Amino acid sequence: MENKKIGVFDSGIGGATVLKEIKRILPDEDYIYYSDSIHNPYGDKDEETIINICDNIVYDLMQQNCKAIVIACNTASAKAAKYLRSKYTKTPIVAIEPAYKMVYDYAYQEPTLVMATKGTIESEKFHMLYEKYNNQKTYLLPCIGLADIIEKDDKKAIKEYLENHIATYRGKVKNVVLGCTHYPLIQTQIEEVLGKVTFFQGAANVANHLKELLEKNNLLETHAGTIQFIDSQQSKIKETRFYEIMES
Ligand code: DGL
Repeated sequence: MENKKIGVFDSGIGGATVLKEIKRILPDEDYIYYSDSIHNPYGDKDEETIINICDNIVYDLMQQNCKAIVIACNTASAKAAKYLRSKYTKTPIVAIEPAYKMVYDYAYQEPTLVMATKGTIESEKFHMLYEKYNNQKTYLLPCIGLADIIEKDDKKAIKEYLENHIATYRGKVKNVVLGCTHYPLIQTQIEEVLGKVTFFQGAANVANHLKELLEKNNLLETHAGTIQFIDSQQSKIKETRFYEIMES
């Protein structure tokens, strides 16, 4: 069988937190990770812009022999997954979403903070998820600008941001949904501000779902488990950070 890869993309290095989980479950597949740092952040962009950006990325990944696509970005999933699936009908497309259902399944009674981009929180897709699994004890927090400073690895700005925006939830919430794939990178800093909380994120669901889809479509393969990293700004700094995350 021809060697085909799995294409994974995000608006930067955040999606590495998803690819890491995928690689754990499917270690022998070959991957292309596309870090679209030139368009970061996606979180404040309108739907049409995000659809166009994602369409170009998926088109490129298809040209590079990808057999499946993973949208490792909650914002892009919320705004563009429907369009991409209607256009690339022959290719399995797996899209991440905030792990709010997981809270419903495992910790329904507990007060919960959902952190995500403005784009995700205001999207129709998230709205439907929220309505379905609402535990009436949930705070929705659009974290405008947070993914941007995580992408820049600006530790001081991240600390200040969290103190200014989430310290108010200390003692009020037990669960935190990390509804943006950049946020698992600052889990420790979030806990420093909120105290002990339980984190929920969608990466494991994506990995399991991808495996199921590959099995169903007879696309599972055994290769060397390579990862090719591409950044839209050809940033060496991003490349180094990406591999650091993958190896952490
Ligand atoms: N990592 C992305 C997400 O999961 C997007 C962050 C951004 O570009 O605003 O939503």
